Amino acid sequence: MSTTQTAQTTDAFKPGLEGVIAAETRLSSVDGQKGELIIAGFPLEELAAHATFEETAYLLWYDHLPTAAELERFRAELAGYRALPAATLTLLEQVAQVRRPAMDALRIAAGAMDLDARDLDDHGLARLALARIPTIVAAYWRLLHGQAPVEPDPELGHAANYLYMLEGARPTPAKVRGLETYLNTVSDHGLNASTFAARVIIATQSDLVSALVGAIGALKGPLHGGAPGPALDMVFEIGDVSRAESYLREKLERGERLMGFGHRVYKVRDPRAEVLARAAEVMYRDGGDMALYNLAREVEKIAVALLAEYKPGRNLQTNVEFYTALLLHGLGLDTDLFTPTFAVGRTAGWIGHCFEQRATGRLIRPDSRYIGERNRRWVPLEQR
Ligand code: COA
Repeated sequence: MSTTQTAQTTDAFKPGLEGVIAAETRLSSVDGQKGELIIAGFPLEELAAHATFEETAYLLWYDHLPTAAELERFRAELAGYRALPAATLTLLEQVAQVRRPAMDALRIAAGAMDLDARDLDDHGLARLALARIPTIVAAYWRLLHGQAPVEPDPELGHAANYLYMLEGARPTPAKVRGLETYLNTVSDHGLNASTFAARVIIATQSDLVSALVGAIGALKGPLHGGAPGPALDMVFEIGDVSRAESYLREKLERGERLMGFGHRVYKVRDPRAEVLARAAEVMYRDGGDMALYNLAREVEKIAVALLAEYKPGRNLQTNVEFYTALLLHGLGLDTDLFTPTFAVGRTAGWIGHCFEQRATGRLIRPDSRYIGERNRRWVPLEQR
């Protein structure tokens, strides 16, 4: 490496790559100051509550909303891929016997989801992966709980079929709509860690399944995939709005963080929180019991006011985890299914980024700065 290159690299060192623009994308734009999320040209609020998840995936991959004929074909192709190869199911049975968490099972089985695939190009593999990731999660969940996996139902859409495979019963339209909105909301979010991991892998001209397994591995880490459980636990612990202020105040007095508030990028309310709050409201109303939803809303108001009092100038607002927890809980999903369900939605974005990265043909290969020793001398084993 030339001296000039070394000097540039040293000057440009950015731990965590913060602020470094490493890709161009038309998939999503995140503006943390304005609180704006654009998905393939659509403000999130415009897209999330209207689109089916198939429409969102198609939009991300092909940059336009599908026509009726395109959508019908896309849905049929996805439905045709849902069932897992027998060996992948057997693998999941083995994983369930050792009771690994659902994200581990997803990481293990995703690598084996294309065992029966022959000569599929990226677009074929993309359909296979999008279709099978929910099947892996649902089948594993049932195996872990001593139940037989439920065969996918080709008559159902992607979101409805996921709930059906989990519960073994057809979900209500309100639940399906709630899940579609959630999956759309988390389908893409700029160059987050798992998306970057997928792009790095595909940029080596590796295959799409490898890129997705890498992305799942990155999402598994709590700093990315999050832990929406604690946000809901807090609401449950509060139990009644009359206790909210004293409970939250005590936490803040002890220097603890309020789960579900604050964000590294968003310094105003995370736009995803509002979209999910609305979806949760519709779903809880349909279910006939608004108590938890109303309590969460009140807790949110009090928490935001107290955060402004205790952390002035920090702009600590509700984050996506708060309403994710409320929505997914309302869908009947266990907390341990929250991150795998996030993966079901984010797969659409991961694949879109893989398509984009593939098209650039460029290897991702940043530099590192050497800070180790130099001129060490070899010491024979017996003298160390
Ligand atoms: N509750 C109370 N205080 C919070 C807070 C929260 N949720 N989030 C941040 N703060 C405070 C910090 O204590 C810090 O205060 P200080 O300056 O007095 O030390 C200040 O706000 C800035 O915090 P910082 O850690 O720099 O913010 P960040 O942008 O790096 O952090 C998060 C972003 C998401 C890590 C952080 O907001 C957080 O920990 N939130 C709670 C966890 C959460 O909701 N996770 C999601 C799963 S439930």
